[in-house]
Amino acid sequence: MMIEVCGVTKSYGAGDATVHALNRVDLSVSAGEMLFLMGPSGSGKTTLLSIMGCILRPTSGAVRIAGQEVTGLSERQLPRIRLEQIGFIFQGFNLFPALTVRENIELALNLKGIRGNESRRRSEVLLERVGLRDKAGQWPTNLSGGQKQRVAIARALAGEPGIILADEPTAALDGTTGRAILDLLRELAHEKGRTIVVVTHDNRALPYADRIVTIEDGQISGQGPEKGDG
Ligand SMILES: Nc1ncnc2c1ncn2[C@@H]1O[C@H](COP(=O)(O)OP(=O)(O)O)[C@@H](O)[C@H]1O
Ligand SMILES: [Mg+2]
Repeated sequence: MMIEVCGVTKSYGAGDATVHALNRVDLSVSAGEMLFLMGPSGSGKTTLLSIMGCILRPTSGAVRIAGQEVTGLSERQLPRIRLEQIGFIFQGFNLFPALTVRENIELALNLKGIRGNESRRRSEVLLERVGLRDKAGQWPTNLSGGQKQRVAIARALAGEPGIILADEPTAALDGTTGRAILDLLRELAHEKGRTIVVVTHDNRALPYADRIVTIEDGQISGQGPEKGDG
């Protein structure tokens, strides 16, 4: 198993203001699997994705990434796991506005120790893969929402992480662009053995899932291989 979440609970805040975002969640995702996480707004999807991505610690429970228990790791050890294992694609793109498209990708490569000509070459390959090679010199503000999301995906792929976590990756995209992105993610799962977890509300995305897990009120309420009918 690439990701193992065991009995994970997450609460935000304290006292009367405590929000119980996740309640004893168990979920495993294997290498090469494209798993979709669905559920109403506020059900805990982003919280679960953030815990799987080691950007948020659970209140209790265990998380293993590629066999390694991460909940006990220190604040100094966690960034290394994130850097080596995980690529994120967020709802809000999170591109650096003062860097060009290519520089946004190269920055991610540099953080992974890939520099100079090699970083330049790889950034071009990544932009080609998401159909944006001709936008390499553009500023993020000059791109459409869909193009920004494709840059974010290219950036998440920098350093070839084993795990890609995507929060509503097609929300800002038209149907054709959204399908192209999902095709790309599925290819990464099935042909490159990446583990892909996608949070989505988009029913058009369902045919792309190997498995669909639904979450309600912080608990897994349904799980199955059936596609697109639930
Ligand atoms: N940083 C936070 N502080 C307090 N409450 C939060 C925080 N993040 C999320 N929550 C709450 O936790 C619950 C789950 O949120 P979230 O994981 O974002 O759900 P989803 O992604 O399914 O919409 C919601 O009730 C939300 O308001
Ligand atoms: Mg969310």
